[in-house]
Amino acid sequence: MPFEPVEIGNIIVPNRFMRSATWEGMCEEDGKPTPKLPVLYRKLAEGGTGLIVTGYTYIHPRGKQMIGTLGAWSDHLVPFLAQVADAVHKVGGSIFSQLMHAGAQTSQRATGDAPIGPSPVPSPFYSGIPEKMSAEQIKSTVLDFAGAAARIKAAGFDGVQLHGAHGYLINQFLSPMTNRRDDNYGGSARNRFRFLEEVVSAIRSDVGDDFPLTVKLSGSDNLEGGIRIDDAVESAVRLEELGIDAIEVSAGTSGSGDGVPVRKRINSLDREGYNAVYSIRIKEKVNVPVILVGGLRSFSLIERLLEEGYADMFALSRPLIREPDLVNIWRDNPSHRATCISCNLCFRPGMKEGGIYCVVEKKLAERKEPDKGSQN
Ligand SMILES: Cc1cc2nc3c(=O)[nH]c(=O)nc-3n(C[C@H](O)[C@H](O)[C@H](O)COP(=O)(O)O)c2cc1C
Ligand code: SF4
Repeated sequence: MPFEPVEIGNIIVPNRFMRSATWEGMCEEDGKPTPKLPVLYRKLAEGGTGLIVTGYTYIHPRGKQMIGTLGAWSDHLVPFLAQVADAVHKVGGSIFSQLMHAGAQTSQRATGDAPIGPSPVPSPFYSGIPEKMSAEQIKSTVLDFAGAAARIKAAGFDGVQLHGAHGYLINQFLSPMTNRRDDNYGGSARNRFRFLEEVVSAIRSDVGDDFPLTVKLSGSDNLEGGIRIDDAVESAVRLEELGIDAIEVSAGTSGSGDGVPVRKRINSLDREGYNAVYSIRIKEKVNVPVILVGGLRSFSLIERLLEEGYADMFALSRPLIREPDLVNIWRDNPSHRATCISCNLCFRPGMKEGGIYCVVEKKLAERKEPDKGSQN
């Protein structure tokens, strides 16, 4: 049953629903959260979401991608991160931070510096050619991940998720398409996994074994020459051996055409749960909880995917932007279908208005209250 608890490391999540990492655009230039962010997370926790994952949180200024992103790259941010964690704990929720370095998937305009990556190969969808990371840069970036995880722990968060999917730096190392190195970090699958392995080990030695550490992985890059499901299964097995506490399964990069991570037009049951083909393959080989994300809109499908062993938990992004209390709604009315129409218009206010919201919901509300607008 989706309303039964599940363990992730040493924490018990009261149900099988997770808020998948969702960039909110609600932070200042240096990554400090604005007051909007804890309010949003509190709403999600009150709305029944068992575990919240923050939007991607940059571990070094050079790894930042979008404006308004949460930061964990410097000690001065810890008290502000603590306010975010406190807001969730006060209402009984749990929160992880998703740690991310964008690697080649950013620009000089966003970071003030040239993008870096495993090899000087542009990522699909991004025109710039990244600077090839030196062995020194690899080592210092591994330490940046560990430093950020330690800050997240010091701020009182319940755990960490590494962003190993969607074409960001960890994914760039894993993928044969973007990793053309001929040293210990490239070539064989074992070598391409080494950067992630070193990040996991460095984090573990800083935060200890009992702090939940999870990874979001791409089951496939959905790109010719990129990661395929067999590679992802191999990575998942290795991650479990390294002591990872759960794996979220997504797929695709922004350059993957119809196979992007945030697919549009999820308007029928057969378009829902579009990464289940990958999560089942990973679930067959690991014992830690497997979390499925991507186009989940109907409780009946989630129930079936759980029963049939496709995943242990279910992560939602856009449905919770439109209905932050969706999990409570499903508890009371399982036949409700999430009202999100998967139009992706919510990205825009994140870039232009200081934070994401459901544009469709806002338009509907304005239509219902025409007088309110005319008073301004
Ligand atoms: C506005 C927005 C921001 C997102 N930001 C992130 C992010 O920071 N990290 C991440 O891993 N995925 C991010 N995603 C992708 C979601 O986590 C999720 O994988 C994807 O939207 C598919 O799930 P859904 O159909 O429930 O929205 C974002 C999606 C949206 C719509
Ligand atoms: S704008 Fe609203 S309806 Fe459209 S994808 Fe975002 S949350 Fe869903």
